[in-house]
Amino acid sequence: MSVQTAGVGKRGRERGARRSSAAKTAWKPGNLLMPLPVVLASCGGTRGQRANLITLAWVGTICSDPPMLSIAVRPERHSHALIKAAGEFAVNVPSADLAKQTDWCGVVSGRDVDKFAGTGLTPAAGLKVSCPIVLECPVNIECRVRKTLPLGSHTLFLAEIVAVQVSAALVDGAGALDIRRAGLLAFAHGHYFELGRYIGHFGFSVRKRRKRRCACRERRLARRSPSR
Ligand SMILES: Cc1cc2nc3c(=O)[nH]c(=O)nc-3n(C[C@H](O)[C@H](O)[C@H](O)COP(=O)(O)O)c2cc1C
Repeated sequence: MSVQTAGVGKRGRERGARRSSAAKTAWKPGNLLMPLPVVLASCGGTRGQRANLITLAWVGTICSDPPMLSIAVRPERHSHALIKAAGEFAVNVPSADLAKQTDWCGVVSGRDVDKFAGTGLTPAAGLKVSCPIVLECPVNIECRVRKTLPLGSHTLFLAEIVAVQVSAALVDGAGALDIRRAGLLAFAHGHYFELGRYIGHFGFSVRKRRKRRCACRERRLARRSPSR
């Protein structure tokens, strides 16, 4: 796709030209894919085990039918054993105002502390899983492990999404999910960010032009029949 067809305009093309001439520095090969979601995965809470929370950034969407996601967890984490034993967990997506609690759950272990008590977060019942979800998180994704892949430093749990709960405050009058209301948190190269400026809807790059054409047509029609 040429820059022209992307419809970025003269100013966008000038900015693009400036960026492409920017100097580069070789960086050591590593995990620089970003931004990442940062989530609180809840697990445990059954068979006499205390429910736990683990902060995870290595989380990914991997399949839509069946809906699946993956989490990469180091075997030495307390949560690793809990997830392996129960074969289930929930991914709780925090809003930016939960950044402090999210960070804390990523620096202490459930072996030593009760993270629900320590954060003041509320454990609530899942619809399909036995571990609790986090009530304060606007989106809760309940997962059942389908495959476990030991990769090296991390174990990849591939899991099917068996239920989802969303805060009622995110659902608009038409029943659509307005995720802009969630105040989501992102993680990049060791830093937390609150999601910022809204740019557009999926497919806006093509829809914009169609819209413009529609607007022209509307104006033409309006000129022809002023009573419309
Ligand atoms: C922002 C952030 C992201 C993290 N991402 C991961 C991750 O993807 N996988 C992992 O194994 N540990 C990750 N950690 C580290 C664990 O959350 C941390 O070791 C935690 O204390 C483990 O808790 P547990 O022993 O109760 O399971 C992350 C920590 C932070 C702060």
